[in-house]
Formats: sequence, structure tokens, C-alpha cells
Amino acid sequence: MSVMSVLVLNGPNLSRLGKREPEVYGYRTLDDINRELVESFPELSFEFFQSEDEGALLEKLFHIEDKGGYSGVVLNAGALTHYSVALRDAISAISTPVVEVHLSNIYAREEFRHKSVISAVCVGVISGFGANSYHLGVRALLGIASTGHA
Ligand code: DQA
Repeated sequence: MSVMSVLVLNGPNLSRLGKREPEVYGYRTLDDINRELVESFPELSFEFFQSEDEGALLEKLFHIEDKGGYSGVVLNAGALTHYSVALRDAISAISTPVVEVHLSNIYAREEFRHKSVISAVCVGVISGFGANSYHLGVRALLGIASTGHA
């Protein structure tokens, strides 16, 4: 059986985890979160990518789609979640499944965070479990890979 590959994609400001509003996002850095994913899922092959730039995220999605072999993407789009139609269109344009994740519970925060423009084109949404949201996102992709549906 071939090794399942997962892209963990993080958008703007997530490079600042650990220092950024720790009361909201916790004290773990993005490197800590990524390391813990590798430790928790040793059977998977991970690729990690973070950018402050919307275009770089789109290009990454197209790159892995064209390369093939990825079972899915765990995406924390940061603030782009709430307004990026370009990101939504990119997710729609690929067939690789994308799970939307958030550290915080976006529905328990400011009203402008209650709306996600990407949820409808993602296979599902996980929000509010801190770093564990990423782990749950990976588990969701494992389920899709084994059953063929979300
Ligand atoms: C976030 C929630 C977003 O509203 C915010 O802009 C972020 C992080 C989260 O992980 O909780 O940057 O996606």
C-alpha cells in the first residue's frame, strides 16, 4: 500500500502562533503543531506550508493537485477564511479534498468571523479544538481515504 500524503496548509498570521494572542490561539508554535502531527501519524507523509500571501496558497493547492498523490489538505486559512473568494474558487477548482480547520471556535468570536466563504467547498469544518483541530482534520481525511466519502 502506498503512503498517504497530506498537505497541512496555513495562511496569514499563523506563522506567529505561540506569540500571537496566546489566550486565543494557545502557546504552541506552528512548528510544535507540525511536529506533533508527524509524531501522532507516523504512517503518513506530511508536507507543511505556510504563507502570508494568498497567491502562494493558491499556487500550492494547484501544485499538489497537478503533482497528484495527495489524499487531502488540512487548511487553516486564517483571516482569508472570511473573505477570500479567490481561495474558495481555488478549492473548488481542485479535486483533492480540503478540510477547513481553526484553532479557535470562530462561531464564539466576533461576528465577522462567523462567516466562512470556504466552508461550502471544503469537505468539512473543524473549529475550536486548539492544536487538536489539525489532528481531527487529519483523522477526517483518513476516514475519507478509507471509505471514499466524508
Ligand atoms: C483562525 C480564525 C480566524 O478568524 C483568524 O483570522 C485566524 C485564525 C483560527 O485558527 O482560529 O487567523 O483561523
